[in-house]
Amino acid sequence: MIAIFVLFFILLWCVSEGYGSTFLVLSLYTLAFLLLMVITSYKRSKELSLISHTINLIWNDKISKEEDIILPETLHFLESEIRRMYGRMKHDIEYLRKLERVRTEFLGNVSHELKTPIFAIQGFLETLLDGAMDDKKVNRLFLEKAGRHAGNLNNLVSDLIDISLIEAGEMRLSFRYFSLSNFTNEIIDEQAPFAAQKGLHLLFTPMVKDVDVYGDKAKLKQVMNNLIQNAIKYTEEGSITVSAAVHGKQVRVVVKDTGPGIAAEHLPRIFERFYRVDRARSRAAGGTGLGLAIAKHILEAHESKIEVMSTVGVGSEFSFCLKR
Ligand SMILES: Nc1ncnc2c1ncn2[C@@H]1O[C@H](COP(=O)(O)OP(=O)(O)O)[C@@H](O)[C@H]1O
Ligand SMILES: [Mg+2]
Repeated sequence: MIAIFVLFFILLWCVSEGYGSTFLVLSLYTLAFLLLMVITSYKRSKELSLISHTINLIWNDKISKEEDIILPETLHFLESEIRRMYGRMKHDIEYLRKLERVRTEFLGNVSHELKTPIFAIQGFLETLLDGAMDDKKVNRLFLEKAGRHAGNLNNLVSDLIDISLIEAGEMRLSFRYFSLSNFTNEIIDEQAPFAAQKGLHLLFTPMVKDVDVYGDKAKLKQVMNNLIQNAIKYTEEGSITVSAAVHGKQVRVVVKDTGPGIAAEHLPRIFERFYRVDRARSRAAGGTGLGLAIAKHILEAHESKIEVMSTVGVGSEFSFCLKR
């Protein structure tokens, strides 16, 4: 094509040099220009239809990977831009699908968890109404059981409110410095009766020197309560020890128990919402399966991370760091 043009222009040049009138030369130049325009626009429209075809393929899900998007050499820049856009779009769609799956799964879990105490309460009340109310041997027991399930329901709803506030990004934190020793002693005093009920020792290894830590005291109390309550719930004998140690600008708080421990395959999952190693046991102990998920979120908001080490048959150790 280029060769034809070169020949054509040489011819034009000859005509202009030799015999042609100015008019003839001008007409030939115009003709050449028009021809050039026609060829260029033909090429452009071919390229445009290729782009439109590619977009149609993407639109109709006929492309599965970025490398399937191929445009001619002249459109190399556009090809890499379309590939980049496709990659981003694919990633966003996959992310949205995953969110949708997680949401559906969460809703399924919530309904299931709500049903359990509601059915139990309903069952006890119906049995009482059907005559057990007048049976002095069981009436009090059934009411106590119904009351315990109502308590579980209350725990679940409170945890659900917490988790939805956290996940909607509406958890308000109020950071300040407070004494770690006072804070821990207060919690230990509150939890001691529950440990004593199970014959467990709940100890706070005193710090050599008290330190002030920086954080939201109420939210950190929620974390500590969950860790200590878990330790009490799952430990059958022995002790629960709370300790703290300074590491540079940080203080590591540790809650250690002599409970059953958690097998390695469960460890990475216990911070997921509703994940429990032993579902029945957790429920019977009033657990919601949300405590560690909430603790994880609260600590992340403190730019910290909850960590766990555990050996089956020996015990578990949960820890996190706070700024001082
Ligand atoms: N100290 C512990 N010892 C043994 N297992 C534990 C301990 N802490 C947590 N777990 C396991 O992790 C699961 C999740 O804990 P959590 O989110 O607090 O829910 P739950 O309401 O069931 O206590 C528990 O169901 C239990 O299986
Ligand atoms: Mg818990």
